[in-house]
Amino acid sequence: MFGTVILALLSCGLVSGDFMSRIINGQATDTTAHPHQLSLEYQGNHVCGASIIGTKWAVTAAHCVEFANYNETLFGVAVNNGKRSDPDRAVYPIKKITPHGSYTGTAGFLEAAYANDIALLELFEEITSWADKAIELSTDILDNKNCTITGWGLDSTDTSPDVLQETTGTILTESGCVSKWNTILQPAYSHQYHVCIDDPNTGSCNGDSGGPMVCDGKLAGVTSWGASGCDTTKPSVYVRVPNYVTWIQGYTNPTPTFL
Ligand SMILES: *[C@@H]1O[C@H](CO)[C@@H](O)[C@H](O)[C@H]1NC(C)=O
Ligand SMILES: *[C@@H]1O[C@H](CO)[C@@H](O)[C@H](O)[C@H]1NC(C)=O
Repeated sequence: MFGTVILALLSCGLVSGDFMSRIINGQATDTTAHPHQLSLEYQGNHVCGASIIGTKWAVTAAHCVEFANYNETLFGVAVNNGKRSDPDRAVYPIKKITPHGSYTGTAGFLEAAYANDIALLELFEEITSWADKAIELSTDILDNKNCTITGWGLDSTDTSPDVLQETTGTILTESGCVSKWNTILQPAYSHQYHVCIDDPNTGSCNGDSGGPMVCDGKLAGVTSWGASGCDTTKPSVYVRVPNYVTWIQGYTNPTPTFL
């Protein structure tokens, strides 16, 4: 039984290149409204979302970049007008990918599923396309806030839409997330690593992974995992960004060392 759940999640990941890649029952939007939104491409194909967090920096999910036998040079981040098919989209190659050193993958599934599912993308050059805009990192997440998720993940018809989709969900309390997830043979929510949002009708799906969850205009979450089949009655789970601000800034804004 336990194996079934893991395989379902993994096959979801293998099919799409990530765990959560669609927005279910969202609304069409664009990158003017979400200027930090990137599409992470592998060999020119959308695999995940990502967010601009600095002039040459983006953040995504570790599982988006850690699939088997990947070739780092084949990744790029695309800036578009909201449509993946935008003829004017610009693809920026990646200089260095830094997945979190303590990303657990499938280990520790029942204590904290996919803990530290975050990766930094350092670009060779500054993103200069019209839509570029770094989003500020959130340092605190308040329960019951309505927050926004965006992505090109599968929609309710199992199709990856061309047009960026958005939806909102409400931040659940720690006990709310735990009660929905930490039941027998389910992947475990852990408040140290995760934040979860609930909406009975909408949510993330395969292909949304790595993309942003935004609360009050700040990046509060990185889309990570959820129910196989993208059952919206289970809250989708995001990396708890406030707990990674120090880790991120250690790379993007390193403290000078006096010699
Ligand atoms: C990675 O891809 C680049 C570009 O296609 C290629 O030159 C390189 O040999 C590849 N590396 C490996 C280890 O396959
Ligand atoms: C959050 O969204 C829920 C569901 O749509 C709504 O009932 C509630 O009023 C919203 N809360 C705020 C503070 O906007």
